[in-house]
Amino acid sequence: MSHADPNAGHASSVQELIALAWEVRARAWAPYSRFLVGAVLETPDGRRFAGCNVENASYPAGICAERGALAAAVAAGAREFTRVVIATEADVPTPPCGICRQALVEFAPALEVVSVAAGGRTASWSLADLLPSPFTPSSLANA
Ligand code: THU
Repeated sequence: MSHADPNAGHASSVQELIALAWEVRARAWAPYSRFLVGAVLETPDGRRFAGCNVENASYPAGICAERGALAAAVAAGAREFTRVVIATEADVPTPPCGICRQALVEFAPALEVVSVAAGGRTASWSLADLLPSPFTPSSLANA
């Protein structure tokens, strides 16, 4: 497993990002669903930002891994993303939920979404396919 510098200045291999996604998944707080998720967002210049799901006894207060990664990235000044890699122990690779698709499209309409499941099985999609006809900042501008 890779332990590459999370702020390396070059694009990562998908294997490196998958390793980082598993690593952050191990820190998820998901005692209610027991569905642990890790996510890593990559910028065009190769910076990587990790997030995990953080659940709460007040269930709606929980947040998904993808939005955790996005918040960390934006807080660090990153606003462009090329790829997100998601890791779960599901049997089949899972795409991001609808709320996360909406959160991600704000910054990265052409995002590549890679998901890795139990046993290392992967799937990938483009966010544009996962969220057709999105509501974006330009939708507000047209009001
Ligand atoms: N979850 C994520 O973190 N990312 C996804 O893409 C799907 C769902 C979390 C939310 C909740 O903590 C748990 O997984 C079960 O839905």
